[in-house]
Amino acid sequence: MSTLTPHLSVEKVTHSRLNELNGDQVAFGKVFSDHMFVASYENGSWQEAKIVPYGRIEMAPSLSALHYGQAVFEGMKAYRSQAGEPLLFRQDANFERINLSAQRLCMPPISKEVFMSGLMELIRLDANWIPSGEGSLYIRPIYFAADELIGLKPSDSYKFFIITCPVGAYYSQPVKLIVSDQYVRACEGGTGAAKVAGNYAASLLADQEAKAKGYDNVIWLDAIHHKYIEECGTMNLAFVIDNVVVTPKLTGTILNGITRNSVLTLFRDMGVTVEERLVSIDEIAEAYDRGILMEAFGMGTAATIAPISTINYQGRDLTLPTVAEFKYSHAVGQKLEDIKTAKCEDSHGWVVRV
Ligand SMILES: Cc1ncc(COP(=O)(O)O)c(C=O)c1O
Repeated sequence: MSTLTPHLSVEKVTHSRLNELNGDQVAFGKVFSDHMFVASYENGSWQEAKIVPYGRIEMAPSLSALHYGQAVFEGMKAYRSQAGEPLLFRQDANFERINLSAQRLCMPPISKEVFMSGLMELIRLDANWIPSGEGSLYIRPIYFAADELIGLKPSDSYKFFIITCPVGAYYSQPVKLIVSDQYVRACEGGTGAAKVAGNYAASLLADQEAKAKGYDNVIWLDAIHHKYIEECGTMNLAFVIDNVVVTPKLTGTILNGITRNSVLTLFRDMGVTVEERLVSIDEIAEAYDRGILMEAFGMGTAATIAPISTINYQGRDLTLPTVAEFKYSHAVGQKLEDIKTAKCEDSHGWVVRV
C-alpha cells in the first residue's frame, strides 16, 4: 500500500495484465485495465477513497440500486499525445454532469476532490493502458445506491467507482439508423437529460428490434408529437442541410452531450452556421427529397463523430451515398481528434495533461 495523494490509498497489482492484451483486437468495453478507483458515501459524507486492483465487488441481493435503479454513470476518454503523455478531455464537464444526473435521482453530489483525485491518480497509474495510435482509454465513472434494504426511498449510502478499458472505434462503419415511432426514450419532466442507468435499460428493446432489422441503432422522436428528432441511443445527432448544421435543441429530454457541445463550438469557430432548434423527421425527409440533406452524423464520446449512411423512417430508407465524402463532419471530427491528442492548439482549454 502507498499513498500518493492525501485520503487516497493505492494498492497496486503485483502483476500487470497489460501484456496479455492483444493489440488492436480488443472489443469495446470487454477488457479492463489493472486498477479501479472506489469511494464510499456513508453517514452524510464521503469516506474512504482508494485505488485497488480491478476486480469483482461483493454485494447483497438487497442492494438498493438493483431494486430501485438509483444509478448514474459517465463516459469519458483519456488519450495519448504524440509525445506519449496521458491527456484528458473536458473532465470538468463530466464531473458536472454526473452530479446533475445524481441530483435528479436524489443522490448526494460527489465531491470534486474525490472525483478528480481518483480520476487523475487512476489514469496516471494505468497510463500504459492508453492505446497509442487510433485508440483511447474509455473511462467509466459509475455511482450507485448501496443501502441493503427493501423499501422505496433514497439510499443513505452510496458507492462510486471509476473503471477504464482500452478501446478502438465504437462503430467501424458508417451507421444505419431506424426511427422508432413505437417506443419513446424520454418525456418532459422525466430523466432524459440525466445519464441514469434506467434510460439505457428502457432503450434496449427498441435497440434490439432495430438490430434485428439490420440497423445499428434507433433515432428517438419526442414523446408528445412523435415528430421531433431527439437523439440516438448512444449519441446526439446533427444534420447538414444546405450548408447549415442543424441539431435538436436541448429540451430537457436529451443528453447534453459534451461532444455535441464541442462540435458546435468548433463549427462556430470555423464560421459555419449552426442552428439548435426543433428538427422534425419530416424536415429531414423533405431535405433528402430536395437533395439538400448533405450530411447526417452522430456525436458522442464512445461513438466520436459517426457518419450516418441510412435513416429508415416508416419503412423507407433515406440513403446518403456520399457518406464517405462528408466534408463538414469529417473536418470537425479531425479537428476534435487533433485537439484531444494535442496535435493542434487547444484554444478552449479543453485538454488537461494528467
Ligand atoms: C443517450 C446519449 N446521448 C448522447 C451521448 C453523447 O454524450 P457525450 O458526447 O457527452 O459522450 C451519449 C453518450 O454518452 C448517450 O449515451
